[in-house]
Amino acid sequence: MAKRKLKRFAEVDTFDNVLKPTLDEAMQDKFSLKGKWNSDYFKNDNPIVLELACGKGEYTIGLAKNYPNKNFIGMDIKGARIWAGAKYAIENKMLNVAFVKTRIDFIVNLFAQDEVSEIWITFPDPQPPKNRAKKRLTGELYLGRYRQILKKGAAVNLKTDSDFFYEFTNEVVQNNKLEVKINSANVYEELIPSLGNDALATDLKILTYYESRWLSEGKKIKFISFVP
Ligand SMILES: C[S@@+](CC[C@H](N)C(=O)[O-])C[C@H]1O[C@@H](n2cnc3c(N)ncnc32)[C@H](O)[C@@H]1O
Repeated sequence: MAKRKLKRFAEVDTFDNVLKPTLDEAMQDKFSLKGKWNSDYFKNDNPIVLELACGKGEYTIGLAKNYPNKNFIGMDIKGARIWAGAKYAIENKMLNVAFVKTRIDFIVNLFAQDEVSEIWITFPDPQPPKNRAKKRLTGELYLGRYRQILKKGAAVNLKTDSDFFYEFTNEVVQNNKLEVKINSANVYEELIPSLGNDALATDLKILTYYESRWLSEGKKIKFISFVP
């Protein structure tokens, strides 16, 4: 591992705004903040929004700036990536931001029913071969998990560059007759211009590390917001 990455990997474990559930806590439903994120961590009653596969946490940070009256939690397994968002939040005294370093697979042991008001999934690994369907973050296995923590009618928002992943998600949504709130195969040239002054247009302009890479390769960015 490169020196800088190693340093970040170690330093992130010292940050107060990065929660690191042990495997035992995450797998055996023993995480102390489950059901108590607002009372014991954020110390307010504001809605909780999750960013899954957050990487450096650009959406967690960007949305937290746009919505100071909501709480934002970024989740990723890679500590050296979370480091960037967590460091920024500490330096800028952003009290409505936290990160969790863990596998998303354990999500139902980290949040209680109705504890979460919205989920953003930003540029997840598409997991293309057929036999990886269970690992896709908009696959039925994960949607079942999201239902266990989301409030009724709450949305999952997916932003992706991948045609494969976007089509897969649309199929899952259609097969399960899920409510679609917004759906666009071209965020920058179609959706954002059509939204005018809507707050979502500002949210959709938040740029992630991977998104910048895909945009420089000329890829079209897709977005779907649906109720799982
Ligand atoms: C392609 S990157 C996208 C990162 C960021 N959202 C962005 O757009 O720059 C996918 C991220 O998903 C994380 N990831 C993949 N599977 C995961 C899992 N099961 N649990 C937690 N994180 C996961 C990886 O560590 C990686 O940071």
